[in-house]
Amino acid sequence: MNNSREKFSGRISLIAAFAGSAIGLGNIWRFPYMVGENGGAAFIVVYILCSLLVALPVFFTESLLGRNSGKGLVSTMNTFFGGKTRKVMSVIILTAPILITSFYSVVGGWSLDFFVRACMGEFCDISKEEAVQFFGKYSTSVTEPIISHFLFLLVSIAIVSRGIKKGIEKFNNITVPILFLLILLFIFYSSSLPGAQEGVKYLLKPDFGKITPGVLASAMGQSFFSLSLGVGTVMVYSSYMKKSENILEAGSYTVFFDTCFAILASFAIIPAVFSAGIELNAGPSLVFETLPYIFTSFKTVSPFLSYVIPVIFFLSILGAAITSEISLLEVIVDYLVEEKGLSRKKASVICFTVCLLIGIVCSLSFGPLSGIQIAGKNIFGFFDSISSNLFMILCSLIFALLVGWKMDRKTVWNELTNEGRGKKSVKIYPVLYFWIRYIVPVMLVIIFITNIFN
Ligand code: TRP
Repeated sequence: MNNSREKFSGRISLIAAFAGSAIGLGNIWRFPYMVGENGGAAFIVVYILCSLLVALPVFFTESLLGRNSGKGLVSTMNTFFGGKTRKVMSVIILTAPILITSFYSVVGGWSLDFFVRACMGEFCDISKEEAVQFFGKYSTSVTEPIISHFLFLLVSIAIVSRGIKKGIEKFNNITVPILFLLILLFIFYSSSLPGAQEGVKYLLKPDFGKITPGVLASAMGQSFFSLSLGVGTVMVYSSYMKKSENILEAGSYTVFFDTCFAILASFAIIPAVFSAGIELNAGPSLVFETLPYIFTSFKTVSPFLSYVIPVIFFLSILGAAITSEISLLEVIVDYLVEEKGLSRKKASVICFTVCLLIGIVCSLSFGPLSGIQIAGKNIFGFFDSISSNLFMILCSLIFALLVGWKMDRKTVWNELTNEGRGKKSVKIYPVLYFWIRYIVPVMLVIIFITNIFN
């Protein structure tokens, strides 16, 4: 165990870091439109079940592996595998973090750009057609999205390069509480809009008829993505976790805050969509096309609000995106420091360069490179789909199998129950251990196979 490794100062910083990683574009950009498309409250119920029954146990296994080894993703895996398997394993487990970090930064860049535009008052007076056209033109253009991607990545890597306590911890401790405050302000605003009550009703009325096996699979995928599983972010953050912290408690808090935030985001966005009388099935463009228009459609009510609200909204997306991006970057930077012996500064520069280049390709795949289609998707969509549907699930399966079948039982017990001192963890341990050994792997295999066929 590497004792010289930095540690998060205390419980609050630890949970802020996990929550910061979990709360991101997934919660604001993806979750509300999935709720809108898949039966409102029914989807929320299914999503919570997926999170509790599958994603949370996987969180525990990934966290346990990191805390126990006191190392990052590749170094932890290297303690289990040798020879050729080790090389293959490194490639498998590093692919997803590199791809996700890169394409995530492209959308992070959009949110930075939209935040700046909101500050300049660009969304104060814009028609529905203009909003749709604007995003279409913007996302397919070359220069602006690439510059935003560059700046977003630069800010994020600057935080990571400062290290755990001075960089990541400090940023999360300030940003995560602000995110909750901003989204609450937004809910307050959107629920006061005329006709918003219909949206609130929609969210509270479950339509279980819409829950198909496909919807179940997307709920599962979303809960893995939202909790940042299977990519090493939970593992690397857990390696900075003190031995006195309780893994079950930290994981449960993370699920709680992440799910709350996703639901809050839905209550912020969907009533506003109803109020503006817009079709709910707007897909991922909801945030960047529909919302800018919604903001301006109420300028007659209050010109001041139609300026301030978009600023608040895009600021919260930007903040959420950065807290997630830094957790992804940390996986790669830590790998370069630990395995390649680089200084943190050098590792940051290399990581920045690689993600910048891959991200540029992703960004261009909406415009000049949109002709390149892999499995019916552009490059961005393809990277998103293979990392979220295949790599994340496969790596989660590896983590669960290692903890359930390979690790010494005593170690698992010690990590999960704090050597028997955690009273609640001791109580649920037998069920949890059984669940991790048998149920979780079976479920993950089913999800993996379903995803391959989809
Ligand atoms: N969870 C974040 C979101 O919801 C994104 C994220 C951060 C992520 N780290 C990750 C996704 C690791 C997958 C794996 O936006």
